[in-house]
Amino acid sequence: MARRTETRRARCVARALLAAAIAATAAVAIQFQLRMMKIRAATESDHDAVWNIFQEIVAAGDTYAFDPKMSRQEALAYWFRADTHTYVAEKDGRVVGTYILRPNQLGPGSHVANAAFMVAPNAQGLGVGRRMAERCLSEARRMGFRAMQFNFVVSTNTSAIHLWEQLGFKIVGTLPGAFHHPEKGYVDVYVMYRSLLED
Ligand SMILES: CC(C)(COP(=O)(O)OP(=O)(O)OC[C@H]1O[C@@H](n2cnc3c(N)ncnc32)[C@H](O)[C@@H]1OP(=O)(O)O)[C@@H](O)C(=O)NCCC(=O)NCCS
Repeated sequence: MARRTETRRARCVARALLAAAIAATAAVAIQFQLRMMKIRAATESDHDAVWNIFQEIVAAGDTYAFDPKMSRQEALAYWFRADTHTYVAEKDGRVVGTYILRPNQLGPGSHVANAAFMVAPNAQGLGVGRRMAERCLSEARRMGFRAMQFNFVVSTNTSAIHLWEQLGFKIVGTLPGAFHHPEKGYVDVYVMYRSLLED
């Protein structure tokens, strides 16, 4: 009886060790893949890739207050605006994400940065957004911005809010019912902010 209990216990330990080993291997594989990812300034040759990501995310209509029928020309004009630094994340030669960094306001408000992020739907949840946001924060600091503000974070966008909070952003304001969600109707929008002066 005691021997049977011992055997069962040993099997449980072996199973737990195997599960831990599999999880660790998966984590190492993801880290490896992320290290292979390159973040660089976007060029005109990225327009098609950026438009494909932009179109898919905006068509879903649940994260950005853009017209879902926005044309390619309008989208690229916005994403590559003259005052905007545009970046792409590339993995195995494929653009999997894009982000922009620019002053949130003009003149006396231009020391606060604004940024926006889009990861291709089939590459979401793999750490691309986090890598882009970390790079964006360090770039913004390098450029001399004193803070970063997100003006329009839809309250139902829990993965984005989770990520921004982990990166030090706080909800500093709520715009009641400011977004019309395709399924949830009128939902709140958050203004999120973090200083870049301390870490
Ligand atoms: C928001 C967005 C930029 C995040 O990028 P991502 O590559 O998908 O996110 P990451 O893989 O880096 O994950 C970051 C965190 O969010 C969480 N997350 C990612 N996708 C998630 C999902 N579908 N559900 C719940 N949490 C999720 C992850 O768990 C991770 O946190 P953890 O490391 O503590 O587990 C990306 O999902 C996206 O482009 N969404 C559509 C556009 C958008 O919402 N832009 C932001 C507007 S404010």
